[in-house]
Amino acid sequence: MVNFLAYFLFELVKLPPSEAAFPIPKSALRNQFMGRRALRKVSPELDLSFHLRTVEQLPNPCIANELFSDEGPLEIEVGSGKGLFLQNVATLYPERRYLGIEVSFKYARFTAARLAKHELKNAIAVHGDGLRLFRELIPDDSLAGVHVYFPDPWWKKRHRRRRVLNEAFLTDVVRTLKPQGKLHFWTDVKEYYNVTLELIAEKISLSGPREVTQRSAEHDLDYLTHFERRTRLNDDPVYRAQFVKE
Ligand SMILES: C[S@@+](CC[C@H](N)C(=O)[O-])C[C@H]1O[C@@H](n2cnc3c(N)ncnc32)[C@H](O)[C@@H]1O
Repeated sequence: MVNFLAYFLFELVKLPPSEAAFPIPKSALRNQFMGRRALRKVSPELDLSFHLRTVEQLPNPCIANELFSDEGPLEIEVGSGKGLFLQNVATLYPERRYLGIEVSFKYARFTAARLAKHELKNAIAVHGDGLRLFRELIPDDSLAGVHVYFPDPWWKKRHRRRRVLNEAFLTDVVRTLKPQGKLHFWTDVKEYYNVTLELIAEKISLSGPREVTQRSAEHDLDYLTHFERRTRLNDDPVYRAQFVKE
């Protein structure tokens, strides 16, 4: 009976006992139980024609000058979620250009709406698979930065190959970054962090990890991403690394 209840509980939170051997952040457990909070409605009056694209609508090869009217270095966030990072950096750095790719349509549309609401002409939300975007559309030596924040950990062993930070994607990151371009990776899952850092050290020609220091939040939304906010409000650690293409 106890075993049955334990199995039921772990199935419910999608964490089989055999694979919960490494510490699971409290915020991740809470997320599994409660799901992600419903998104605010996107106003039908907002014109999303500039800010929302699909991978299929992007130019191939994906040349930034064909997407944006102003010049500037191009950076891509893979798994942009609700778009807090894109909104913040596009506001802070108007001289740079950003694409955020998100596999969930409702999150991509939500992000596009927040970019449109703030009239940010240097950031676009793309709906589609980030791995495909890199594999098929992004030219060599074209990016100043790649950002991957709190990628889905895929707890079950048999699902691990679905992780975004795999060898093929990281090889594409090296190919598409310009010299001195940076890969930024943050997570709350220590195991994912360690495995990725080992993979990069063994097989990927990026130098690092460079340390990234945590700064204190000065207001309620003063975090890089929503997942960083949730993790830190829950007092779980965030593991951060930055790599450079030499
Ligand atoms: C755990 S959330 C983190 C969201 C955001 N980066 C943050 O820190 O708040 C991971 C996001 O990556 C998206 N995602 C997963 N695989 C993806 C892929 N292959 N391409 C694009 N987005 C992906 C998921 O839909 C989800 O929104």
